Amino acid sequence: MIVCTTIQEAREVLAKQRLQAPQEQIGFVPTMGYLHEGHASLMQRAKAECGYAVLSIFVNPLQFGPNEDFDRYPRSAENDIALAEANGIDLLFMPTVSEMYPVKPLTRVVIDSVTDRLCGASRPGHFDGVGIVVSKLFHIIEPHRAFFGMKDAQQVAVIQRMVDDLNIPVAIVPCDTVREADGLAMSSRNVYLSEEERRQAVVLSQTLRSAESWVMEPGMTAAKLEGQIRDAITSAPLAEIDYAELLSYPDLSPLEAGVQLSDCRSTLIVALAVKFGRTRLIDNRLILPR
Ligand code: PAJ
Repeated sequence: MIVCTTIQEAREVLAKQRLQAPQEQIGFVPTMGYLHEGHASLMQRAKAECGYAVLSIFVNPLQFGPNEDFDRYPRSAENDIALAEANGIDLLFMPTVSEMYPVKPLTRVVIDSVTDRLCGASRPGHFDGVGIVVSKLFHIIEPHRAFFGMKDAQQVAVIQRMVDDLNIPVAIVPCDTVREADGLAMSSRNVYLSEEERRQAVVLSQTLRSAESWVMEPGMTAAKLEGQIRDAITSAPLAEIDYAELLSYPDLSPLEAGVQLSDCRSTLIVALAVKFGRTRLIDNRLILPR
């Protein structure tokens, strides 16, 4: 595995790879590090589906709000390098902030509409930061395929839309959420949880599983479902709901009021953001039409 910290080095390594093995595809996994099994599943898929796998680790300041956890976001370069190597990564790109942003960018990447709700609404500016960093990384790496986790389903919808709108020549590959044994979605932020918060955090995945069966109940509407979801989550005393919504996917628009969910013939998403103390966890479940 080659480790690069500058854009020029990464471009040189990739140019050589394209010349030496033009038949191999380049698979790309962008991350912010503190790698776990969720990231590992993306790396393994990138390596299996493309001959050459690239991982980036970059904690992108532009996607954190002023009162968010940029400064305390967990970092562990040594462990990450070992994990990247163990999961078949050929090139690890880990730039510094000044390498990625030598000057404050004047260009903005704003993706409308799909960012109106969920994390787009509760983290203003977050997806502008994701949009600019992912488009920069796509221009640096020029991958054939890029692998994203459905744990961040809105991020997948946003990036897919950006790629379509700007004709970026990359295929976006959505990948299943990897979970702990009790169902909690793996996340770099899980380390923030106290023992008791960690125990109660299982309420997210449990509620999502219940929600899938509630959708099919006769007379169920979006408003009623959201009410039941809220009640289930707040049964965990430490849980504080940021949002709990049922939307259509991938356009992330609300359903018409009063529509019977069992009549819906489009893909829906139940999306949750719940705080335990200072830690904000997200999770979601797609509900496919029958
Ligand atoms: P990060 O949170 O590090 O996640 C990197 C990738 O891993 C994302 O595509 C995310 O959806 C995926 N991932 C996280 N947890 C997962 C899990 N439990 N199962 C499967 N996949 C999981 O998302 C970001 O970084 C950043 O916004 C980034 C795209 C790198 C731009 O800065």
